[in-house]
Amino acid sequence: MIFRQKHLDGNAEPEGSVIISVSRSYKTFESEGPIASALFTQMDKFLVRGGRPLRGKIEIGGAKNSALPCLAATLLTAETVTLHNVPYVKDLITQRRLLEDLGATVLTPELRTHKVTANNVQLFEAPYHLVKTMRASVLALGPLLARFGQAKVSLPGGCAIGTRPIDLHLKAFEQLGATVSLESGDVVARAPKGRLVGTDISFEKVTVTGTENVMMAAALADGKTVIHNAAQEPEIEDLAELLNKMGARINGAGTPTMEIDGVEALGGAQHTIIPDRIETGTFIVAAAITGGELEVKGCNPDHIRAVIKELRAAGVDIEELNPSTLFVRQSSGGLKANDVTTEPHPLFPTDMQAQYMALMTQAKGTSKITETIFENRFMHASELIRMGADITISGNTATVRGPRHLTGAPILASDLRASASLVLAALCASGETLIDRVYHIDRGYETIVRKLRSIGADIERITDNLAAEEDEA
Ligand code: EPU
Repeated sequence: MIFRQKHLDGNAEPEGSVIISVSRSYKTFESEGPIASALFTQMDKFLVRGGRPLRGKIEIGGAKNSALPCLAATLLTAETVTLHNVPYVKDLITQRRLLEDLGATVLTPELRTHKVTANNVQLFEAPYHLVKTMRASVLALGPLLARFGQAKVSLPGGCAIGTRPIDLHLKAFEQLGATVSLESGDVVARAPKGRLVGTDISFEKVTVTGTENVMMAAALADGKTVIHNAAQEPEIEDLAELLNKMGARINGAGTPTMEIDGVEALGGAQHTIIPDRIETGTFIVAAAITGGELEVKGCNPDHIRAVIKELRAAGVDIEELNPSTLFVRQSSGGLKANDVTTEPHPLFPTDMQAQYMALMTQAKGTSKITETIFENRFMHASELIRMGADITISGNTATVRGPRHLTGAPILASDLRASASLVLAALCASGETLIDRVYHIDRGYETIVRKLRSIGADIERITDNLAAEEDEA
């Protein structure tokens, strides 16, 4: 155990540069931030005193939803894969634990660099205790099946935002020649001939991790695979870039049709994870909702064109200072209602819907927010209503009437992006807001308290010693 107990959400980086493994027996302190919540299942809360405009500069971290499949991809080779810019968040710690449980060695020469060598994998299984805390564990299926011809992954159940089946992943594996069965709650997949066989796969619905699982499986399959109706998210392109560096032959990533010529083996590579587009969008909203001014650095505006477009339409000034820096503030005319509908990339992402709803509570007029990706992703609405928002839900559309003065209240976070939405609402509310179950936010936002404090927010993490329920998102 070489993790040093220093502030993450406080003011310092963890000391030292090597995290070999993280003991689960540590006592938690408020200052330990995400690691505490990540590993010690503590029921942390955020106390926010709102009403301060956020000002200054903020640096965006690596994309959680890219680092997760890229870490899974390290299982495809016995050689060392080095990933840089891996965000220091709970889900990545869980993913790392999964790799280690399978037998991979994970070194961390620097805090956000993971050197993974999967030359001694002896287990081909992602157990329930990991899958239930993080459904992205299903990303182990494709690589294990492709390289070892077998994989067992606990079937994820529903979660706070919807039922979220993985039937499309499994159907695609079958099309690649695998046999797939459900045994005592586990998905058991085998490649009868030892190796998958390339084929044409048409996803009936766009699925991000489904596309990623098939990309990884097809990379080592015998022959050519064509994926139709593939997800086009920047994280897909990032994974393809890593896989191609490892020796895969993938064309068309980022478009609806991807072609993958299977190869016999993949090798080591170095890769830097793209910036987190959802963290970027969240900080843009933070500047706008508090009436502040922020320089958002180290981001990629091309990855959030739809978000920038809708936020501009809602009265947010977003200036592109250079290819990786945005300058954000409310426009002089103030915030105004603007309807959005969530859709797969390149349209407006579901992962920004909750934060956008918080913003619309402060906009003049009535906006309609339609969620088309997940069937139950409005749980933040009831908490926003407790703070004074005027929101009605009908089917998959939320109608937000604004602006409404929000006041602090005790509220409950239900999932990762809902937590972000509640933090944003609390930052513009008058008085104190106590947000419970913030372990959700620690899954995907690195040192959120420290970052917000650095730009003037009055927010602190409060730790008590009750065990948290580990939900997933
Ligand atoms: N779906 C199926 N069957 C499948 C797969 C998906 O019916 O086999 C449905 C889902 O239930 C959903 C839709 O298809 O209605 C899209 O789901 P998708 O598979 O694209 O979601 P995911 O891959 O499980 C990823 C992100 C989510 C993000 C969604 C949508 C990761 C690790 N997770 O999930 O991120 O919301 O894509 O963009 O990449 C988050 O970061 O907060 C988060 C939830």
